[in-house]
Amino acid sequence: MNIANNRKKIVVLTGAGISAESGIKTFRDSGGLWENHNIMDVASPVGWRKNKNLVINFYNERREQLAEVKPNFAHTYLAELENDFDVQIITQNVDDLHERGGSTKILHLHGELTKVRSTFDASLVYDIGYTKLNIGDNCDLGYQLRPHIVWFGEDVPAISEAITYCMRADYFIVIGTSMEVYPAANLIDYVPKQAPKIIIDPNIPAFTTPISNLVKIEKKASEGVKELKEYLTN
Ligand code: APR
Repeated sequence: MNIANNRKKIVVLTGAGISAESGIKTFRDSGGLWENHNIMDVASPVGWRKNKNLVINFYNERREQLAEVKPNFAHTYLAELENDFDVQIITQNVDDLHERGGSTKILHLHGELTKVRSTFDASLVYDIGYTKLNIGDNCDLGYQLRPHIVWFGEDVPAISEAITYCMRADYFIVIGTSMEVYPAANLIDYVPKQAPKIIIDPNIPAFTTPISNLVKIEKKASEGVKELKEYLTN
């Protein structure tokens, strides 16, 4: 018998708030600016067409910053939960702090900072770690590379896989997301009615539809996961 298959399934949806205590700024806590940039200038296909240099430099800076920060207690706590539960992380974050925190099952909904991809064939994805991307860096087919990030207005290819995980969840945990960006914000609607839905955020988002079995932990991620621990072990 495979014991791992009998473990309760925890699905965790994370957003920028889980990385805030590591020193990465959230998006909507800074008045519509992302690290002093208008979000649409650096995270949309229109922004890319308008000024590729600005976009490339912006993500180069984010990658450089990522190399300097570390996972915090919330990231490592989620990794430790794997000792007792089948834990699937679904993250909107493009950082790699869940990976470095030790989690093993991570689905990135909005892409990854440490990767770039072809502007011609989106399946050509390359790992560049924390190094810089430059204008003139091309894919194997000779087309400019771009950050491997899902920008506003673009498809979210990982969403159907995420929905499947949510439908099988015994517990659904949401940490540090304003639930303002779709389709990620809809994922909670795919979680079975009976599954507890535990939200950890110092500023709990308002939900547009009634949510069954909702547990609110109005705390920062690192504090909130300690309460979660009590909830899961009782
Ligand atoms: N611990 C937990 N939550 C926190 C903390 C903290 N220390 N600090 C802030 N938060 C919460 C805020 O209260 C807010 O609810 O984190 C949330 C951050 O929300 P957003 O800035 O909107 O980030 P997110 O929900 O991840 O954004 C979704 O939007 O810009 C796009 O693609 C980008 O993935 C991103 C998506």
